[in-house]
Amino acid sequence: MPPTGTNELTPTVFVLYGATGDLARRMVLPAFFELAQHGLLPEDWRLIGSGRGERTDEEFVEHVRSALEEFGPDPDDGPWDDFAERLRFAGGGFTADDPGQLLDAVATARKEIGDDAQLVHYLSLPPKAFTDYTRALGAHGLGEGARVVYEKPFGASPEGFRELDDLVHSVFDEEQVFRIDHFLGKEGTQDLHALRFANGLFEPMWSREHVAQVQIDVPEDLDVADRADFYDATGATLDMLVTHLFQVAAEVAMEPPVSFSANDILSARESVLANFRPLAPEDVVLGQFEGYRELDGVPDDSATDTYVAARLFIDSGRWRGVPFLLRTGKRMAAKQQRVSLVLHRPKGPVNDVPANGNVVSLSLAGAGAVDIDVMAKKPGPDLAMAPARVSLDLSKIPGGEPLAPYVSLIHDVLIGDRSLFTTSEGLAQTWRALQPVLDDRPQVHPYAPGSWGPVEANALTGEHGWLLGQTED
Ligand code: BG6
Repeated sequence: MPPTGTNELTPTVFVLYGATGDLARRMVLPAFFELAQHGLLPEDWRLIGSGRGERTDEEFVEHVRSALEEFGPDPDDGPWDDFAERLRFAGGGFTADDPGQLLDAVATARKEIGDDAQLVHYLSLPPKAFTDYTRALGAHGLGEGARVVYEKPFGASPEGFRELDDLVHSVFDEEQVFRIDHFLGKEGTQDLHALRFANGLFEPMWSREHVAQVQIDVPEDLDVADRADFYDATGATLDMLVTHLFQVAAEVAMEPPVSFSANDILSARESVLANFRPLAPEDVVLGQFEGYRELDGVPDDSATDTYVAARLFIDSGRWRGVPFLLRTGKRMAAKQQRVSLVLHRPKGPVNDVPANGNVVSLSLAGAGAVDIDVMAKKPGPDLAMAPARVSLDLSKIPGGEPLAPYVSLIHDVLIGDRSLFTTSEGLAQTWRALQPVLDDRPQVHPYAPGSWGPVEANALTGEHGWLLGQTED
């Protein structure tokens, strides 16, 4: 694959904590290799895997190769030899009391590629480990001038978020912190910027004057068998709603940024989170698929939600009164990721336009797609109307090379672009908007696996129904 990058990046020492764990194996290491394939890594870099066990650099190289063979691009379909030479391993764990081999490994890497190399810490760790590792980074003076990346969820409750946030800010300035929400890194989500701000067709219609309802719908067909422990302690509301779906809602609802600079985009998206009206518990429907409690690792009496649907209002001048319908769940009828803006019916002279006759819809999956549902004349002698769809598959755009979300986001970390990351203030607003549901948790309704979820959620959408599908009453 020909490289597309410019390579004008600062030399970087990238420390991957949890380097031999599952997330690193599935997502981070393959993404890093993909960056190398695209020529999007700095000319000089080292990746130091940090872990508890003892491994030689050579053993770590083998580990990375097998991760790529299983989850990533084929190592032989890219600059593998050059890549492998830059991988190091620092064992012995990393705690505030004992840095293991990490300080020596960082010092050596800096000697090799330059003392001014930037340091990036990537915490590919279970969230409960964020606190100890952040403390350790502070204790060993590794925070200074560095960037740090946290995986989702950054705090699993409002209190947990505040504690972690205070600790992180005692070691890092906010500008150094990159909190991942990979939905923001999706090509389709980023296309919202282009679609809306680069088109006279869409920009003027992006408001309550033209939009009757927004649906952000992420049904999933898989269950959670491979990570039941994590999931049962989390549930759909915390795993998906307060994170991915809220962030995508902010992407849709934001005011135009002053410019397309990273800071302006970030502040436009994060500002609108303050306009999210706290969710009313009666506007939230929770569900659990039948059979969930029989999964290994799930207690027999689990009340965890595997499904959530919510009607969110955003009290900005632009969106006041427009419901944002958010839905996601496991073991549903389909796997899709869609943002749809349902337009008001045009005012006369055609008076039989269906409620969902005019819809602008984006798929966030893969390279993204845009579908526009319109009413058109049905060819023939009469002036009869028929629904029709105009579709644009973004993967077909000539010269386009879609990047997977992790690839795109890690590249942004390397270049210091925070536009697609969350901020501390923004996350505080998401927890504020969720608080009433935590205080007064709605009942959890059972639903059949392979269905569209509890029928109770139908009432949230009014005459529009759920565009992708719903369980019939
Ligand atoms: C993760 C959630 O953050 O996102 C999962 O923890 C969910 O439960 C996943 O399945 C969806 O991601 P993707 O890559 O399918 O868009």
